[in-house]
Amino acid sequence: MTVDAVRGVTPGYQWEDSDAEIAAAYGLDPASIVRFDTNTSPRVPPGLDALIATESARLPLNEYPDATYAALTGAIAELMRVPVDRIVVGAGADEVLDIVAKTCLPPGGLAVMPSPAYAMYRVLTLQRAARLAEVPRGPGDAGFPLDLDAIVRESSTADMLWLCDPDNPTATVQPPGVLEDLLRRLSDLPGGGPVVVIDEAYREFAGETLAGEVGRFPRLVVVRTASKAYGLAGMRVGWGVGDEPLVRRLSAVRPPGSISSLSAEVAARVLSQPGFAAANVDALIHERERLRAALCARGWTVPSSATNFVLLACGTSEAADAAAQRLLRAGLVPRTFRRGRLHSYLRLTVRTPEQDDRLIAALGDRA
Ligand SMILES: Cc1ncc(COP(=O)(O)O)c(C=O)c1O
Repeated sequence: MTVDAVRGVTPGYQWEDSDAEIAAAYGLDPASIVRFDTNTSPRVPPGLDALIATESARLPLNEYPDATYAALTGAIAELMRVPVDRIVVGAGADEVLDIVAKTCLPPGGLAVMPSPAYAMYRVLTLQRAARLAEVPRGPGDAGFPLDLDAIVRESSTADMLWLCDPDNPTATVQPPGVLEDLLRRLSDLPGGGPVVVIDEAYREFAGETLAGEVGRFPRLVVVRTASKAYGLAGMRVGWGVGDEPLVRRLSAVRPPGSISSLSAEVAARVLSQPGFAAANVDALIHERERLRAALCARGWTVPSSATNFVLLACGTSEAADAAAQRLLRAGLVPRTFRRGRLHSYLRLTVRTPEQDDRLIAALGDRA
């Protein structure tokens, strides 16, 4: 696994094909393509166009952004109820994850992650020329349980542990108290255990943030994003919460000015009015359950979800391929997993009722 990294050809993140590529392959109008593969929000906050127009007229776009990102950090501090010096911002959660890896994972070091996991954890680990220990989750029909004992065991010599809750791609969430117990066990390891990332990109959809725990666990970084519940994926805004000394180390690695001043100001305003995110989450959870019920009624297996996406359990990789083809022919793009544990699943983002109806019709009855 590290051979590629040593040669300097680390595999990048693999997206599904672009709208233009899919339109060309299936003879479709690019404008008719709907992305069910990105786990983004189907809607933007109300008044976003006007806000962008006002901010682009007001901001001196010939100048660099405020290096401290004071407005954005202040809005995040209020939202998360943590002091500003516990926050590091980035161009999306992905940049925050990258900053943590650059800070905490030396070449030849060891990162641990459950498997399956969000694909970027592997990419970032290999980019650091570090080693990766994967701890398999239990079977999908048992809800992909984490093997907590094995995670603690593998973490005993690790520099970093990647965790995601609620989890992409399994759509599961840990019961209350489980992650706190795990953090306690990890911090009791000789040397204080690895730096633990808890990626909460989907937190608004289920459970409680662990951001309040960073004072007790100085090696914990909680990572959040404006890309999901807040509907701002194109703005590229994310943040991490950690204890002050760790945040100072992360901030020293953060590229200056990677978030545009427009993105920072717009995100600050949107994060200051969390009403939209709350309403968006309610609507998406309601729509998720309608989508699951409609697919189950047609014979498909759709496990419960704690996120804004669902897994379609197709049984075999051939059946998953056939279902993906049905969707792609209709211009609907699922997330596929051709290799690895999820090869017999598709991942489908919950979108608008109209778009989801297209998906339900295109999938039809399970053969
Ligand atoms: C678990 C997880 N973390 C991070 C990200 C990236 O978020 P951002 O758009 O803020 O970079 C995603 C996006 O799909 C994700 O699923």
